[in-house]
Amino acid sequence: MWWKEAVVYQIYPRSFADSNGDGIGDLQGIIEKLDYLNGNPDSLGVDAIWLSPIYPSPMVDFGYDISDYEDIDPVFGDLKTFKKLLKEAHKRNIKVIMDLVINHTSDQHPWFIESRSSKKNKKRDWYIWEDAIDGKPPNNWMGAFGGNAWEWDEKTKQYYYHGFTKEQPDLNWRNPEVKKAIFKMISYWLDMGVDGFRLDVVNYYIKDKKLRDNPKDYFKGLRPYDIQHHIYDRDRPKVHSILKSFRKLLNSYDGDRMSVGEVFIEPPGNPKLATSYYGDNSDELHMAFNFAFLYCKWDPNKFKAAIASLEQELKPGDWPNYTLSNHDQIRHIKRYEKGIETIPRMRIAAMLMLTLRGTPFLYYGEEIGMEDQSVPKDEIQDPLGKMYWPIFNGRDKSRLPMCWNASEYAGFSTSKPWLPMNKNYKKNNVEVEAAKPDSLLNTYKKLLSIRRSSEILQKGDIRLLDDPSGKVLAYFRIYKKNRLLILLNFKNEKVQFDLDKHTHPKTKTILLYSTDMQRLEGETIKLPHIRLSSYEGMIIKFE
Ligand code: NOJ
Repeated sequence: MWWKEAVVYQIYPRSFADSNGDGIGDLQGIIEKLDYLNGNPDSLGVDAIWLSPIYPSPMVDFGYDISDYEDIDPVFGDLKTFKKLLKEAHKRNIKVIMDLVINHTSDQHPWFIESRSSKKNKKRDWYIWEDAIDGKPPNNWMGAFGGNAWEWDEKTKQYYYHGFTKEQPDLNWRNPEVKKAIFKMISYWLDMGVDGFRLDVVNYYIKDKKLRDNPKDYFKGLRPYDIQHHIYDRDRPKVHSILKSFRKLLNSYDGDRMSVGEVFIEPPGNPKLATSYYGDNSDELHMAFNFAFLYCKWDPNKFKAAIASLEQELKPGDWPNYTLSNHDQIRHIKRYEKGIETIPRMRIAAMLMLTLRGTPFLYYGEEIGMEDQSVPKDEIQDPLGKMYWPIFNGRDKSRLPMCWNASEYAGFSTSKPWLPMNKNYKKNNVEVEAAKPDSLLNTYKKLLSIRRSSEILQKGDIRLLDDPSGKVLAYFRIYKKNRLLILLNFKNEKVQFDLDKHTHPKTKTILLYSTDMQRLEGETIKLPHIRLSSYEGMIIKFE
């Protein structure tokens, strides 16, 4: 199954590469960068790209508000260019995963325009409409992007429900016609040859039939939304039957089409709920995103606990996955920033991601250590940033244009980009990184090539080891009779890791790779006391 062995690279299309000089990234731009991603001897070496939404959209939430599910927004190109992208990606062994945003549409989608036109319209029930109760919304549900989740429609004198902005009305998934129309649209893309989908807020599709109030004061957070316990507006049992039939639809196609769902949970880090979306028998999503690493402090024991609890929660047949950054989060380079220790930390993070059991999801730019940068108030684009400024200035900071070279606008575009360029793009870009043997980019390339040629890393089991010093994250990867030992020193100091004699067979151990350039690949590693330099990551092979 390709998606188990693959490394997925998320592209935020507006910010990857702009081919027509309008300051916004596009599909032709991505096509021109495919060689960077795979298919050439010096490519990065990723196996799949996940594209954040590229469908026609008023862009209130930058594509997460779709007004036509079966076309491409002109800002990104057209269907012909998309088909070319598919073909060119496949030529280079890159699979293409699309973003499926089917909890809600844009308020400009023809379905919603019809639905809101009158109470009697045949699409009225395609969305969630409710009468006011004593002049107020029917319950206490909040929108994740601020305020009450119910918007009053003056013309038809009812409220409609929107879990995000008011321009993103939620579809009524209890209506079988909605399911039929959406499944037809999914088949349209599958017929075209897309390899899989990332399902936006998959746990939001079904809401409580009785519209019961969510309990309050459950959790702390920035938004009023955060304090509610979302037991009635999310994670309702019926969503699982939708996903079971969605899985059947995917399975009816050849070529192993895959799905990965976004399941956000509070408190963060607990994988229990997310893993329920794999189904009872791996018969729902192929994977639900595991966001536990987003909340781990720079501490090997925190990461170890996150890995252990995911492994424990997965049922036989379920497949793990890991993520450190995405378009909604502060990039991990920022979360783990520590002066000159930052890049060494990024190498450890990369080795962790690329040596674990499970599918890694990388986020564009992380391979060159692209940094977040706050966007000035008058240049904020993200609706969340506009809503919560100055407490929170939004997600733009992790969506900045990719830095390709040191030319004006970093080779991303020939005109001013839609978001400001990273201030240090002259020093930190793909061209500079590619030329430096010890760059972060070259660490990623090396790790990706090791992973690609290692059945142990792609398919093997994982056994986490103890490190009494609390400084090293250590694990074995084991496949058939072969094993690798991974050691990650999280500290800026030399440490010694003592391998318990019961955990290792008496065999020759050689170094497959170290982040420390002083070491020689192939050098013999003497057990059981292994010395690591500061922030050294090692992959040791047992022969
Ligand atoms: C989750 C997406 O990742 C985010 O970017 C978007 O704003 C919301 N869902 C709404 O679709």
